Amino acid sequence: MGMLDGKVAVITGGGRGQGRSHAIELAKEGADIVIADIGAPIEGLTYGLATEEDIAETVRQVEALDRRIVGVTADVRSTEDMQRVADAAIETFGRIDIVLANAAVHQVLPDTYTIADDDWHRMIDVNLTGVFKTVRAMIPHLVDGGGGSIVITSSTDGLRASPSWGHYGAAKAGIISLAKTLAVELAPEHVRVNVVVPTGVNSPMAEALMDSVPKTLERWGFATDRANLMREVGVIEPVDVSNAIVYLVSDKARYVTGITLPVDAGYTVKH
Ligand SMILES: NC(=O)c1ccc[n+]([C@@H]2O[C@H](COP(=O)([O-])OP(=O)(O)OC[C@H]3O[C@@H](n4cnc5c(N)ncnc54)[C@H](O)[C@@H]3O)[C@@H](O)[C@H]2O)c1
Repeated sequence: MGMLDGKVAVITGGGRGQGRSHAIELAKEGADIVIADIGAPIEGLTYGLATEEDIAETVRQVEALDRRIVGVTADVRSTEDMQRVADAAIETFGRIDIVLANAAVHQVLPDTYTIADDDWHRMIDVNLTGVFKTVRAMIPHLVDGGGGSIVITSSTDGLRASPSWGHYGAAKAGIISLAKTLAVELAPEHVRVNVVVPTGVNSPMAEALMDSVPKTLERWGFATDRANLMREVGVIEPVDVSNAIVYLVSDKARYVTGITLPVDAGYTVKH
């Protein structure tokens, strides 16, 4: 018996990194999975995103657990794409119980007040509007099914200052507000909405920024301040975030809604 037997989970950004880990850990608990990922780079970013092969690899790893999974190439910025993801879930599994709005991009720039329009809009389109479009497409199906659970992935940057990537921090703070509002509006529908707040996570995103981030943090005098309270861990593993999400979407958290749960090795409680 798994904690998520019979549930269907839609996960954006499931092609690699934390999203892949969430797909695997939810599948281990019995869920059937739909992953949505862009499967291509976005112009203007300094690093690549998941590829079609990455999406296929997540599918392979979940199928190896004897669970069902559908991989959809889709961009969270597109209303039509998110509708296609919802349709694929309903056509294949007949329901949606869990939504993980996890897809996002990162970008390191010199100063927030000099961010160009293109950079600003790209970030807000993916990391804020993309989360909105994801949940907007899925919520009617959670409601139809009698309830469900949504987890949105923010960041410690959404709770604290994020110099040199203020557009990322602003989007990550915005989705916390969005989640709280949805928690209020959807409580009568038995849909719970929560947020996870990871500190640095060992993923392709973190790897891609490995060179630029430490230099930037040093510039702002953040070199030591950015260390976790639990100093033995520099970056946590994707599965650490997945474990928190498995709890939040399970019946063990049946009366947990509207919370912002740091998975941050104590980072956010530091002065
Ligand atoms: N890695 C970290 O240090 C860290 C820390 C805190 C929070 N986060 C957050 O965790 C989440 C997962 O990130 P990750 O660390 O696994 O990074 P990642 O880059 O490895 O994974 C992000 C996934 O999102 C996908 N994606 C990006 N833009 C998309 C779009 N427009 N449409 C569909 N898919 C898109 C990418 O292809 C990729 O598969 C993100 O929300 C990120 O902001 C990461």
